[in-house]
Parts: sequence; C-alpha cells; structure tokens
Amino acid sequence: MGNVAVIGAQWGDEGKGKVVDWLASRAEIVVRFQGGHNAGHTLVVGNETYKLSLLPSGVVRGKLGIIGNGVVVDPEALLAEIARVEAQGLTVRPDNLRVAENAALILPLHAALDRAREAARGERKIGTTGRGIGPAYEDKVARRAIRVCDLAEPETLAEKLDELLLHHNTLLRGLGAEPFSKAALLAQLLALAPRILPYAEPVWQRLDEARRAGRRILFEGAQAVMLDVDHGTYPFVTSSNTVAASAAAGAGLGPGAIGFVLGIAKAYSTRVGAGPFPTELHDATGALLGDRGHEFGTVTGRRRRCGWFDAALVRQAVKVGGIQGLALTKLDVLDGLPELRIGVGYRIDGMLWRHLPAAPRAQAAAEPVYETMEGWSQSTRGARSWAELPAQAVKYVRRIEELTESPVTLLSTSPERDDTILVRDPFEG
Ligand code: GDP
Ligand code: IMO
Ligand code: MG
Repeated sequence: MGNVAVIGAQWGDEGKGKVVDWLASRAEIVVRFQGGHNAGHTLVVGNETYKLSLLPSGVVRGKLGIIGNGVVVDPEALLAEIARVEAQGLTVRPDNLRVAENAALILPLHAALDRAREAARGERKIGTTGRGIGPAYEDKVARRAIRVCDLAEPETLAEKLDELLLHHNTLLRGLGAEPFSKAALLAQLLALAPRILPYAEPVWQRLDEARRAGRRILFEGAQAVMLDVDHGTYPFVTSSNTVAASAAAGAGLGPGAIGFVLGIAKAYSTRVGAGPFPTELHDATGALLGDRGHEFGTVTGRRRRCGWFDAALVRQAVKVGGIQGLALTKLDVLDGLPELRIGVGYRIDGMLWRHLPAAPRAQAAAEPVYETMEGWSQSTRGARSWAELPAQAVKYVRRIEELTESPVTLLSTSPERDDTILVRDPFEG
C-alpha cells in the first residue's frame, strides 16, 4: 500500500484534476509540490464544476490538502480561491489546508514583471499565464524571496522588500513599467499575514508522521513533463521541475515516499502557450478536436492548440518523468473520426529521430513521422468498463501502450468524476 504521484505527460491540461479527484477517494492527503496558480484543474462532480488553481484537488472530497514548499504561493490568489470554492459549498479551513512555512510567495511585482517581459519579447513571447510564476522562482533561487514564514516577522519583511525592490524596480523601469512602493507592499503583506499564517506550518513533519502511520499520500503535479524547466521544450516551459522526482523535494520527503508514478496523457495533444508542437494540426481536424474537447485554457481562456497523439514525446516523458503507468483521458473526443494518426518519431533535416532533441532550432524543424490507424464510429463517452469500448478504441489504446513503453492503467471517458475505467489501482503499486 503505497503513495501515488500524478504528473502531466504532455504540455498540461491532460485532466490531472479529474484523475486526482477520482483517486483522492483512496488517499488521505493530497499534496501540491510545484507550480502555482498558473495551473487550472477542472473537476466535474454531478452538476457542480470546480476550477482549482492552487488548492490541491483533494479538497473537493474533504481530504487534507497540503501546499508544499516547492509551490510558489500568491497569498491574494489563495484567499480568493478559498472564497470561491467556499461559495460553492466546500469548506477550506486551517484544519483541512496546510501551507508549507518555507514556500516562496508571489507578489504583485512578480506578475508585473512577467507581463512586462512578455510584452518586451514581442513575437518571441513564451505565452506565460502572466501570473508571476517565473519571476517568483527566480527570486527563490536568487535567495531574495519572501517566504510564508516571513509574514510573522515584520522586520524581516521590511529588510527583504528593500532588496527585492532594488532589483525589481530597476528591471520594471527598464521595461517601461510602473515601479512598486515599499510602503504599499509592506502594508499589503502585513494585512495578509493574519489571514495566511493560520495555514502555515512545517508540512514536512506532518507528512513524515502520516507516512509512518501508513496514511496514503497523493502527490498532485501541475503543468507537465514537456513544460519542465529542464526536460521540456525550453525556453517554452514553466519555471519548475514538473517530473515526479520533484515531488519529494517539493513536499519535504525523501524519494522513497513518492510511490507509484501515474502519468496523465490525453488521447491526442494540446498546448496552450507558444513553442514547438510537432504533431499540431492547423486543419479542420484540429478545429474539431478543439471544439469537441472544449480546449480553452482554464487560466488564460486562450484556445488550446490541438494535434495528434505524439507517442515519441510521451515515451520521452515516461522515461524522464519516471512514469510507471499512464492514465489516458479524453478518448471520447476521438469518437467518430474515420482515421487516427499517432506520431512515432520525427524527421529533422532528413534524419530520423525517436525522441525530440533539446536544441531549439531542431525542435522547431521537427516534422512528425506518423502511423495511421482506423478510427471507431461508436461512442465511448461515459464508458466505465473495457467491455463498453469498441474494438478499434481498444486497439488504439494498446498501440499507445506499445509505443510509449508504458501500460495504460486508467482510462477517462468524460469530464465527470465517475466516467473512469480502472485497469490497475496505482495505490497497489
Ligand atoms: P489539468 O490541468 O490536467 O487538470 O486539466 P484541465 O482541467 O485544465 O483540462 C482538462 C479538461 O478536460 C477539463 O475541462 C476536464 O473537465 C476535461 N476532461 C477530463 N477528462 C476528460 C475526458 O475523459 N473526456 C472529456 N471529454 N473531457 C475530459
Ligand atoms: P495545468 O496544471 C497548460 C504554460 C503557459 C506557458 C508556459 C509558461 O493546468 O496543466 P508560466 O505562467 O508557467 O510561466 O507559463 O507554461 N502553462 C500551462 N499550460 N497547463 C498548465 O497547467 C500550465 N501552466 C503553465 O501557457 O506556455
Ligand atoms: Mg489545466
């Protein structure tokens, strides 16, 4: 009986929220370990739709949610999200949400810098969510971040703000953006302190105790392997490590605590921001996938780019992400397509590749090599057992298993919580 880590195997929005919510019935604690409110996880439970960004998806089932030290926390966004889900009838209080005291904060100046930089990049923009994620992680690594625990020490806040503003206001002015005032930021942080500090604690202690007591922990990843700052399509990535290995460091546990690694992949591909996307479709099929799959960014509202399933890319994500089983989602979106394609590699300057190389020009030049399969005409939407799936759909899933070198251990056939087919319980390893 182990723990489970859930990570995205493509470019995000694979349906991690739905899967984590479903698996949370088998866990006692759900932990976010990286990213911030750039994530957008949609959970559909009966007539209610929850859109979570920073809160661990386990809160919908009333499980203990933990925001680990690897997350960058925007305190205003956290409080706003708590208010939003409370308005939907959930209860989020310090007894069911804990936030790592050593997590770095996102301040308004981070979002301002994120947006000013994107504007300055012009054509070469990354397409960030504009929420300050990158600048906040930069400050953490540069050792000038304000952390959750600093909210308890007004003198520390004042000192750190001097250093932060020296850096940020110089940059903001250089980019033609408005500088920030120390007095206003200090007042804002002091006002936030009593509202945030009740959630703060050394979460590593609670996780260590839970682990020793044999309580099941579910680690909820945000973004995905191809957005990982090391392993993704750099520089078109987010600013954290999204691979399962970072679950341990981002929660304050050893690597042995992670357990089974479940990678989530859509039965096709999507991407929100800019950057390489070899199997992208610019035709009617791409538009159809977007319409049927309701492919609009949860955070940005932007239309997601759509394309065929890229097995070479997911295979790479399986290897670097440590994925031991795949949850394949949105199979229903492919219903009725006469023919399906699966990317099995790339042609770059006349050479064949089985993986996406790291160099940006090579990535941009990668032409997909496809395998073609017959589609199915029957509906798979809402299927809850293998037996309900048409033979061609089963064949498609089997081919994905072969090409990605990973078993499909879970299938999702609609946004609804219970429209899920369990092949192998990840908690059983
Ligand atoms: P996440 O960021 O990985 O949690 O994914 P998002 O929630 O941003 O995007 C996934 C979208 O697909 C959401 O709107 C889900 O409700 C929806 N979804 C999840 N699984 C399925 C599925 O199997 N079929 C369909 N049609 N939609 C799904
Ligand atoms: P979930 O958890 C999809 C993308 C942005 C941009 C890049 C960098 O819902 O899967 P950032 O604001 O992080 O600096 O933006 O990463 N991005 C996501 N794309 N799903 C997400 O989260 C994403 N979080 C960030 O679009 O291309
Ligand atoms: Mg999302």
